[in-house]
Amino acid sequence: MRSNEEIHILVVDDKKGSREALQKMIAKEGYRVSLAHDAETGLELFRQEPVSLVITDLRMPGMDGITLLKEVKRLNGTTEVILISGYGTVESAVEAMREGAYDFITKPLERALVLKAITKALEKQELLRENADLRAKLRNLGDPSGLIGNGQSMIEVKELIRQVAPTSANVLILGESGTGKELVANAIHNLSDRAGKPFIKVNCAALPENLLESELFGYERGAFTGAVARKEGRFRLADEGMLFLDEIGDMPMSLQAKILRVLQEGEFERLGGNETLKVDVRIIAATNQDLQEAIADRRFREDLYYRLNVISIYLPPLRERRSDIPILVEHFIERFSEKNKQRVYAFSREAVELMSNYDWPGNIRELENTVERAVVLGRDDLLSVDDLPPSIARGAEKQDESPVEAGAPVISIPVGTPLSEIEHRVILETLRHTGGDKSAAARQLGIATRTIYRKLDQAESLK
Ligand SMILES: Nc1ncnc2c1ncn2[C@@H]1O[C@H](COP(=O)(O)OP(=O)(O)OP(=O)(O)O)[C@@H](O)[C@H]1O
Ligand SMILES: [Mg+2]
Repeated sequence: MRSNEEIHILVVDDKKGSREALQKMIAKEGYRVSLAHDAETGLELFRQEPVSLVITDLRMPGMDGITLLKEVKRLNGTTEVILISGYGTVESAVEAMREGAYDFITKPLERALVLKAITKALEKQELLRENADLRAKLRNLGDPSGLIGNGQSMIEVKELIRQVAPTSANVLILGESGTGKELVANAIHNLSDRAGKPFIKVNCAALPENLLESELFGYERGAFTGAVARKEGRFRLADEGMLFLDEIGDMPMSLQAKILRVLQEGEFERLGGNETLKVDVRIIAATNQDLQEAIADRRFREDLYYRLNVISIYLPPLRERRSDIPILVEHFIERFSEKNKQRVYAFSREAVELMSNYDWPGNIRELENTVERAVVLGRDDLLSVDDLPPSIARGAEKQDESPVEAGAPVISIPVGTPLSEIEHRVILETLRHTGGDKSAAARQLGIATRTIYRKLDQAESLK
């Protein structure tokens, strides 16, 4: 943040009285002020030294305020301009805003309103500057992985990608939905010596078992009803390149055995055929599931797991790398502003703060959608909290009213327990947890304190 002394404000007004009134208001806040009695003198001053903000009267003898505004904007687009008018005519206000004035205030000048307009104009300017800095940083990253993020975990992920990409090792990418697993897979392919070779993707969760099998291995003509011609599978298409097995945790057990064979021997047959095909395919697999747990549940073969998991890359959820949020927001703003041909510059500080505090269950994909929606629907070039979905905009309140405190003790209740008894046990355990404090327990349970007394009485009388 700039200090007020670093901010230079130029006041242009033909009336001595209002010039000096403005000077007094502004100088009191510690800003540096220069005065000009007409637009020509103002421009002269403007050319001589940097000015953050121009406050100009609309009607003046000689050059008027709107012409001055246009001239200032032409000379330096980052200078903000506030116009003042004795008779706040709507048309002039509209024209001024269209020409890029930040605001329009009417005489008689009210100190509070003037200062508010100044603060807001300067805040916008500051935000735009920060954003330009961020964008420059983004461009300078020049990162071949295409992954945005400067936090420690992202730095480590990028380093791992750089190390593993040029090898021939299979890679397992782990992380919640929307954390960027596919992006990492793309990066590995791009940075590998197979970059010019095919990169074939299969979503193992999207297809029923028999379709998935024929997609992967292909089939011979007549292998099943509807197989009117031979079709090559994705393993064959990926020969010499890479195959991305997305959502591998959802791969049916029976297919896992066949995949294992390709991984071990590099060979397979098309469905309905007996010609053995040899392929050289590097596998990148991804899942949002806990494969250790799947192995314990006998839903996933341990031997396949070890074949796939030569190297694993874990993408932490966004809520565990919040420092990346502002730069990701910036990245998506730029992407979607371009796509939508909109003049969108930035989110307000408050909006970025709310986004930084939000938990993002859908991770980066949810963030991406949120920014796109705001860019498409936002009406101002400064996006505000109002452009965020209610779940994020109300973030602060929502977290406060979270009913269950983290780390609260857990009780287990057999299925079939009567509701009245469940209720009684929960009340007793909550009371134990609060050390017998009935009003604290009532607050946690979301009921009135007297209800606790009543329920305890009832339970007592039933004994
Ligand atoms: N670090 C990042 N920088 C920039 N964009 C990212 C980053 N991570 C993810 N994205 C973007 O977020 C979206 C979701 O990423 P991706 O599809 O790779 O996630 P995923 O982990 O495969 O999700 P799912 O499990 O739901 O398939 C994509 O549009 C991707 O481009
Ligand atoms: Mg994915």
